[in-house]
Amino acid sequence: MSGCSAAILIALVSFGRAAFAAQMPSSQIVQGARLFQYWCEDCHAAGERPGTVALQRRYGGSVPAALEERTDLNDALVSFVVRNGKSFMPFFRETEISDEELVALDRYLSSNTNSKAAARRAAAGPSPIRDKGIIGRSR
Ligand code: HEC
Repeated sequence: MSGCSAAILIALVSFGRAAFAAQMPSSQIVQGARLFQYWCEDCHAAGERPGTVALQRRYGGSVPAALEERTDLNDALVSFVVRNGKSFMPFFRETEISDEELVALDRYLSSNTNSKAAARRAAAGPSPIRDKGIIGRSR
């Protein structure tokens, strides 16, 4: 193989790796997607869910009612609401969602729409909110 075609081959391989890496969400964001499915989505998925309905009412459609479709969320807001609750949203303790997991949730909800979609594809799981009747838990 000539030096030139070897160089082209190396360039192609590295480009392929970079393109692949760009499509792979970080493991932290995938963990965040999984945590969201586990703790949040029964109230915050699109459709007739209590959190989604409440946020539709609060913002009147000026931002998407489903949290995962929002692009204006940031770490500070998400962490604050998760640790303190809001209206009838329960707060979550460190024994339920650890500080490290909370960072993963923050990163997931604050990441862009494409990263969120990729992370959701990489994650899947059951929800204890529905299974254990946590919906409606009083503070
Ligand atoms: C029992 C239902 C319920 C669960 C479970 C729940 N939420 Fe909520 N959430 C709500 C409701 C209702 C609101 C809207 C409160 C309001 O402002 O009227 C809300 C609001 C929020 C907001 C504020 C959005 C804004 O713009 O004000 C964030 C962020 C949020 N939830 C994140 C989460 C995360 C992350 C989880 C999972 C760890 C979660 N929620 C679990 C019901 C829930």
